[in-house]
Amino acid sequence: MNKITIAIDGFSSTGKSTVAKQIAKHLGYVYVDSGAMYRAVTLYAMQKGLISKSDFNIEALIYQLPSINISFKFNKSLGFAEVYLNDVNVEKEIRTLEVSSFVSKVAEVSEVRQKLVEQQQKMGKDKGVVMDGRDIGTVVFPDAELKLFMTASAETRAKRRYEELVERGDAVNFEQVLKNVKERDYIDSNREDSPLIKAKDAIEVDNSNMTLKEQFDKIIQLVKMTI
Ligand code: C5P
Repeated sequence: MNKITIAIDGFSSTGKSTVAKQIAKHLGYVYVDSGAMYRAVTLYAMQKGLISKSDFNIEALIYQLPSINISFKFNKSLGFAEVYLNDVNVEKEIRTLEVSSFVSKVAEVSEVRQKLVEQQQKMGKDKGVVMDGRDIGTVVFPDAELKLFMTASAETRAKRRYEELVERGDAVNFEQVLKNVKERDYIDSNREDSPLIKAKDAIEVDNSNMTLKEQFDKIIQLVKMTI
């Protein structure tokens, strides 16, 4: 069967990665979480003291970009690839609310985007890939055979994200999470370089009232119609 490229874009916490992982597993495709790459660069900037609530040393981050190595290694027991920053597994550290509060600022930097987009394009060059993010159908793979744009209300998304963070044991409150989701949506949609927009040929999937199974079935049906 022909292998295709599946690009999944959308707002924060629309459940893109959950469904993308399921689809990739079902089709035997590679799943790439592009947001994890922006999060890993953000974690690096935090570790080096380049970003804080009051300050962001963009020049220093750009200068240090060649020393940032991001890779993925498949974890058999989890069934998906985890992200590594300079050979250290940072899968857990990149998911904190603190990283979430800085990541959209880091993702505005064109030099960061250039480096990550180049790596993403290499990872998907042989097709058979499901990649989720904000600019996958518009910039990374404008020729992807199937493009999806996921949406859900901000409250629904913040509730999902809040439950995920609480389950991990993070001390957060719902209002903080909702504020972060709205802020990231705003910055992601209004930045100059590669803003989050629905590609002209993307199919919109509003999953506010869909179960995971319904969402999976709908996307698999779209894949079958595309292949
Ligand atoms: O997907 P996730 O919510 O983990 O992404 C974290 C952040 O990384 C987003 O809010 C966005 O600022 C940035 N991002 C991006 N382009 C992508 C993927 C993520 O700008 N392709």
